Amino acid sequence: MYRTHHCNELRATDVGLEVALAGWVDSRRDHGGVIFIDLRDREGLTQVVFRPEEFPEVAASAHTLRSEDVVQVIGKVARRLEGTQNPKLGTGEIEVVASSLNILNRSEILPFPLDSEVGNEDLRLSHRYLDLRRRSLVRNLKIRHLVAKATREYLDREGYLEIETPVLSKSTPEGAREFLVPSRLIPNHFYALSQSPQQYKQLLMVGGIERYFQIAKCFRDEDPRADRITELTQIDLEASFIERDDIIRLIEGLLREIFRATRGLDIQTPFVRLSYHDAMDRFGTDKPDMRFGMELVDLTDLFRSSQFKVFRGAIDAGGVVKAINAKGFAKITAGQIEDLTNLAKQSGAKGLAFIKIEQGEWKSPIVKFFTETEKAVLNQTLQIAEGDLILFGADSWEVVCTTLGRIRLKVADYLQLIQDPTDLKFLWVLDFPLLAFDPAENKWSAMHHPFTRPKQEDLGLLAAGEFGKVRAEAYDVVLNGVEIGGGSIRIHEQELQAKMFQVLGINAERQQKLFSHLLRAFTFGAPPHGGIALGVDRLVMLIAGTSNIREVIAFPKNSRGQDLMMDSPSQVPEKQLQELHIRSLPRSQILRDL
Ligand code: AMO
Ligand code: AMP
Repeated sequence: MYRTHHCNELRATDVGLEVALAGWVDSRRDHGGVIFIDLRDREGLTQVVFRPEEFPEVAASAHTLRSEDVVQVIGKVARRLEGTQNPKLGTGEIEVVASSLNILNRSEILPFPLDSEVGNEDLRLSHRYLDLRRRSLVRNLKIRHLVAKATREYLDREGYLEIETPVLSKSTPEGAREFLVPSRLIPNHFYALSQSPQQYKQLLMVGGIERYFQIAKCFRDEDPRADRITELTQIDLEASFIERDDIIRLIEGLLREIFRATRGLDIQTPFVRLSYHDAMDRFGTDKPDMRFGMELVDLTDLFRSSQFKVFRGAIDAGGVVKAINAKGFAKITAGQIEDLTNLAKQSGAKGLAFIKIEQGEWKSPIVKFFTETEKAVLNQTLQIAEGDLILFGADSWEVVCTTLGRIRLKVADYLQLIQDPTDLKFLWVLDFPLLAFDPAENKWSAMHHPFTRPKQEDLGLLAAGEFGKVRAEAYDVVLNGVEIGGGSIRIHEQELQAKMFQVLGINAERQQKLFSHLLRAFTFGAPPHGGIALGVDRLVMLIAGTSNIREVIAFPKNSRGQDLMMDSPSQVPEKQLQELHIRSLPRSQILRDL
C-alpha cells in the first residue's frame, strides 16, 4: 500500500499514528542536518521531518531529494513544536517524523516554477502536465467536476435522460464556422464536427424522449478570444411540452445547486428579468453587468431643440442623445479620455462629448450651447455632483447604446467599481429580436439560430415582412456581464420552419438539401418543445474567479488554436491524405494564395 492518508488529512488528533504518505517533494529545507520536506499530493501539503540522530540512513537519503521527486514516506505523526505551527495549512499543527523513505522517481529541474502564476504562457502550455500540479488548476478542475456532478444529479431528479448525440455531424450554414472532417469511405464528402447538439436534440423531441440533457463537447472554428474557445463544453438540454418560464425555473434551480455544490453559496432566485430592449437601453449591452449602476440616461427629449449641432443633428436624423454619469471621475487623465474616445469611435460613434464638474464649474466646450433649463434638467436627471464626469453619445439608438455600454464597462474598470469578488448578479434577458439585418451580406440572419420560435403575438409582423420588429421566444442567462447560457422555444411546425428559412435566404431547394431531415420530421407529429445550453467553461471561470478561460480547461489550446504540448495541428504523411482523397498543395502555392 503506497499510502494510508492523503497530504491534507492528518490533524492534531492523529498524533502518535504510524502513517504512509506518497507524493511530490514540494520543497526541501535543511536545518543543521535536520531535513524538512513539504510533501505534496493533489489534496495538499504535509511537513515531513528527517532526523539524523534517530534514522541516520533515511536522513542521508533525504539529503539527496530535490523538488518534484516522487517519494513514499513512512513515519509517525507528531505535534509540531510551539511556534512552528502553520495556521494556513490544514495539516499545520502536525508533522510526520520519517522512519523510512522510498524514492519512487526523480525529477529534473522544472522549466518554470510552480509557485508563480505569471510567466510565459506558451512555455507553461507546452508542459501542461507540470502546470496542472499548481493548486489553482487542481482547484478549477475540481470545480468543473462538481458542476458536472451537481448537473447530473439535479437533472436526473427532474426527469432528464442523459443521451449522447453524434460529434461527426452534417455541415450546415448558419452559426459559427465549422471544423470539417473528410470521409474516407465516401470520397469528396465531409462531416462537420458538431457545433452544438441543436438539431439532434430537437429530433430527440420528435422521437418522444421528452426530456434530454447532455454535457456536450461543441466545436466552433472561430478565432479564440478571452471567453471564446474553439472546443467548448455545454450543459445542453431540451424538453417537450414546456414553456419559457418552465425552463427559466429549471435553470435557476440548476444554478442554485451548482453554486451550493461548488461555493457553498445560496444564490437568490428568481433572477431579475430584462427585455433585450431595456438591457440595451439602460446598459448598452445584451449582457449587462449589474454589479454597478452608471445606467444610460436618455436625454433626447431634453435636447430636441438644442443649440449644440451634434445633439440636434443626431435627433433630427431620428437618433437619440444619452449620457452616463461617471461619479467622481472628473479627475480622469487626458490619456484616459483619449482611450475612451477611441473606444467610442471603434463602436461607430463620431465622438465622445463630456463635461467635468470641478470647483463647482461645468468644464467643457459644449456647455456654452446649453440653456439654463437644459442645465437644470441635466443636473437633476443625472444627479450631478462635484467631481463627476458626464459622457454623452449622440447618434442612432443602436450606436449610442453600444458605445455608452462599452464606455460604461471601461469606466467601471478605471474606477475599480467591482470590489467584492463574491458578488453575483444573475439576470435573464428576454424578448430578443428574432432577426438582425446584416448590411455586409445584405440579408437577414437569425439572432439566436434559425430554429427559434417567433413570439406568437409577432407572427403577423413576420407575415407582413416587418422582420426587424419580430421578437423571438429566446432567453439568455447572464452572470456578472457574461452570457453563461442561451436558449429558446423552437419552431415545431414544418410550414413556419420553411418560412423562417426562406426569410433567411435559404430557398426551397437548399432547404431540402440542408434541412430535409428536420422539415420532414416536423410533419410526423412534432411536439412543442424548447431548451437551452449553458457554457460550462464560462460558468466555471466565473465560479473559480479567473478571467482566463484556459485556466479551467485541463488541456487548452492557445490563442492560435494550437495544442503546444501535443504539437497539434500537425502535418500528416502523404499516404494518409491520399486515403482521405485529399491532395495537399505545395507550400509555395499556399503562401501565394494567402
Ligand atoms: P449558444 O451558441 O448561444 O447556443 O451557446 C450557448 C452557450 O454556450 C457558451 N458558448 C461558448 N463558450 C465559450 N466559447 C465559445 N466559443 C462559446 N460559444 C458558446 C455560452 C453560450 O451562452 N444550441 C444553442 C442552445 C439552445 O438554443 O438550446 C447554442 O449552442 O455560454
Ligand atoms: P465638434 O463640434 O464636432 O468638435 O464636437 C464637440 C464635442 O462633441 C467633441 O468632444 C466631440 O468628441 C463630441 N462629439 C462629436 N460627435 C459626437 C457624437 N455623435 N456623440 C457624442 N459626442 C460627439
